[in-house]
Amino acid sequence: MTSEISLSHAEYKKIARLVYDRFGIHLGDKKESLVSNRLRKVVQAGGFSSFEKYYNHLINDRSGKALDVLINKISTNLTFFGREAEHFSYLMETVIPGLLSTDTFRREKKLRIWCAGCSTGEEAYTLSIAAREGLARAHVEMDYGILATDISGRALSVAEKALYKAENVEKTNTAWIRKYYSKEGADHYRVKDEIREKVLFRRLNLMRPDFPFKNKFHVIFCRNVMIYFDQKTRKQLTVKFHKHLADGGFLFIGHSESLGRDNAYFEYMKPAVYKRSAV
Ligand SMILES: C[S@@+](CC[C@H](N)C(=O)[O-])C[C@H]1O[C@@H](n2cnc3c(N)ncnc32)[C@H](O)[C@@H]1O
Repeated sequence: MTSEISLSHAEYKKIARLVYDRFGIHLGDKKESLVSNRLRKVVQAGGFSSFEKYYNHLINDRSGKALDVLINKISTNLTFFGREAEHFSYLMETVIPGLLSTDTFRREKKLRIWCAGCSTGEEAYTLSIAAREGLARAHVEMDYGILATDISGRALSVAEKALYKAENVEKTNTAWIRKYYSKEGADHYRVKDEIREKVLFRRLNLMRPDFPFKNKFHVIFCRNVMIYFDQKTRKQLTVKFHKHLADGGFLFIGHSESLGRDNAYFEYMKPAVYKRSAV
């Protein structure tokens, strides 16, 4: 019988620090058993005799593969269709018509949306549908594109398949299901190509000092991601979002998150929706 490898407090601290430094995720003091449970199999499968040895491998692995496995295990990818659905209505009914009333936006060829921390893709495809519907309602034939990014390669590979369990898709509105999804087998739906082809999935760490984007976005969705970051990291990310948003652009965050109402970079519009300030 093999004895179970246990995680000491000192080992936990080191791993938690690494996760914070590389990915911004603040594990705090209460996640010891979660980290131990999620990583034990990785440690054993890798043939490491202790978490300490595994940690040394993490910091010495130049390929980045060990860190990929780590973040796939540690990050929380919970997402679902219909999450905070009023954001999509607001996008269609207020944000898109508002943008269209500005001269600068009307000169654009494309509505550009960034879905930052897209997890397994439900939010990005819903955004693609909402953008299409919003532009159609405004009777505008403008192209649009969604850049959907996440740190988790495992989540992104699910997203790229665009195939979801029927019971999950059914949380979205029925008219949209009829128009934009096709049934696949008895219990799955696939997102139709016209919606799918507007979404580009890419792996991107939000902790990067700079983002490699040429063009500015009109809308950024970064919902239920900053909740895992500490105040300092959130502030830094907010400044980067400001830099990559076009004048008058919008930032959507999760309802349990806040930028604070006196944020110099963003004007509060309604819960979890902010407009870029011209600072
Ligand atoms: C809880 S999910 C939220 C998904 C979706 N935005 C929603 O609201 O349903 C959080 C996502 O943030 C991603 N994430 C966490 N830290 C990240 C980082 N440093 N860079 C990029 N993505 C990150 C996770 O991989 C995860 O998929």
